[in-house]
Amino acid sequence: MSKEAQLFAPLVIDSEGNPNVVFTPDHPAHGDPEYQAHRNYVAALALGHRAGDLVPDIAYRPSDHACWKEISRALRTLQSEYAATEVREAIERFDLPTDHVPQLSDTSARLTELTGFRFRPAAGIVPLREFYGSLADRTFNATQFIRHHSQPLFSPEPDMVHEVIGHGTTMASSRFAELYQQAGEASRRATTEESLQLVSRVFWFTLEYGVLKEAGEHRAYGASLLSAYGELQNFRRADIRPLDVRAMATHRYDVTSYQSVLFAADSLAHLEDFLGDFFSRADTETPARLGLTPASRTAAPARQTSARRDRAATH
Ligand SMILES: [Fe+2]
Repeated sequence: MSKEAQLFAPLVIDSEGNPNVVFTPDHPAHGDPEYQAHRNYVAALALGHRAGDLVPDIAYRPSDHACWKEISRALRTLQSEYAATEVREAIERFDLPTDHVPQLSDTSARLTELTGFRFRPAAGIVPLREFYGSLADRTFNATQFIRHHSQPLFSPEPDMVHEVIGHGTTMASSRFAELYQQAGEASRRATTEESLQLVSRVFWFTLEYGVLKEAGEHRAYGASLLSAYGELQNFRRADIRPLDVRAMATHRYDVTSYQSVLFAADSLAHLEDFLGDFFSRADTETPARLGLTPASRTAAPARQTSARRDRAATH
């Protein structure tokens, strides 16, 4: 879960170590004690998870399954029209169910078969360095809860729809999985906060919000576009610019609305060249090498999500 998500559903640990998810008044789950209890239960299982443990199974409720069914089918329809070919082929291979919430353990096992990636459960904020560093080991920290059933097409936080349908689907492609791992390796060489933020920004504008050209059209491959109903419908209306690390580092953006500026690769091969070059050379000195002074940058997003108010899926 991202830092931004904490704006809407902060996770508080009480004096006895029990997690309590608190929903702000504008959160869809505000005032629903049953949902809150379920979220606390899911968070407690993740908090109790240790490296090497099996991913715990969640007792999803009928409303969770109904919610997954609606959003996953809606996204599948949009993805068939707007997702990049490589992603659409990965969707077929990953073969997620659309009639019930899959267990993270099952999707993790399938992912491992395909590309060696696996999911690790996360209860709340995963520090940036830990989140990206895990990618070097082909491990993705993922939440296991499902958005509130009152708004199946919207979540202010990265729920399992974002993690599994967005990132999981992408990581089911060996070509994208390689880029995720490269991002993780770059983060480990970026030993300062400043250099890590630069890696995070490039990740944000590519593996979260990236598009590429195919047959004269822009198609989505970024996990945040693939898992957000509203974003996927609207991304072609954005100001779409060529890939540029310096522009990604300095562009000011708003995590609470649709992304108004996106960056497009000319092809998947072009993206691989661009990210391969950046991630393979990224280290602590990269911001200075690019002439990026602290004043030239804006705050980078935490981890991998935005928390928006007005659209479909999270992030
Ligand atoms: Fe993400």
